Amino acid sequence: MKFLVCNTYEEASQEAAKIFEEQLRTKPSSVLGLATGSTPLGLYRELIRAYQLGGLDFSAVTTINLDEYYPIAPTHEQSYRYFMNENLFKHINVDPAKTFVPDGQAASPEDESVSYDERIKRLGGIDLQLLGIGENGHIGFNEPSDALRMDTHVEVLTESTRKANARFFQSIDEVPTHAITMGMAGIMTAKKILLLACGKNKHEVVKAMQDKTVTTQIPATLLKCHPDMTLICDRAAFEGR
Ligand code: GLP
Repeated sequence: MKFLVCNTYEEASQEAAKIFEEQLRTKPSSVLGLATGSTPLGLYRELIRAYQLGGLDFSAVTTINLDEYYPIAPTHEQSYRYFMNENLFKHINVDPAKTFVPDGQAASPEDESVSYDERIKRLGGIDLQLLGIGENGHIGFNEPSDALRMDTHVEVLTESTRKANARFFQSIDEVPTHAITMGMAGIMTAKKILLLACGKNKHEVVKAMQDKTVTTQIPATLLKCHPDMTLICDRAAFEGR
């Protein structure tokens, strides 16, 4: 694992953007695994800026997102589809038909999960997977558990995750109880992984990333086994203050 501690959130976002820029320079038709949450916003702003300055071209890119609440409409302001459209896609030259987010309105979320994995396979896997991290160590929506699922699946959200995400909704009752999330295999078979952890509430989890153990109770720790994984955090997450 490569580990980079940046002084500020802005610096962490810029370092993350450099990895994306390098990826697109090397392979303009990259399959980018994307994430939501507040952490990647700075990175997305950097990518938009680089695109506007003419240095970055997304025309050949395919994106595939980690997860989506279930059930939720794509027009709901807290849906991850809406988030991606608003915070990235509509500002760059990616082909909207080549941006994928699990369908939060699928009649059968189980069938949607199976086709999501088939899609990842058809795309030839993910070239660069971006990840944020939950306070409890979840990645995507793979919640701490004795056993983790490999495949894309429907996850019951933990109370702590619903509480952490309640800030985006009117009340905790509005936070969906379920999500469709890529599983550990979709994530771990990405050729390159970039994990971003910022803010002092991520301190415990950043600490857990630094020793030599892995545990399904902190799903992000499994990423330590990945041969090309970079963790970028800010000083607040590193020091916990
Ligand atoms: C959600 C997402 C995760 C994300 C996490 C952290 O639960 N499913 O992919 O990493 O939030 O979000 P934030 O970056 O806002 O702390």
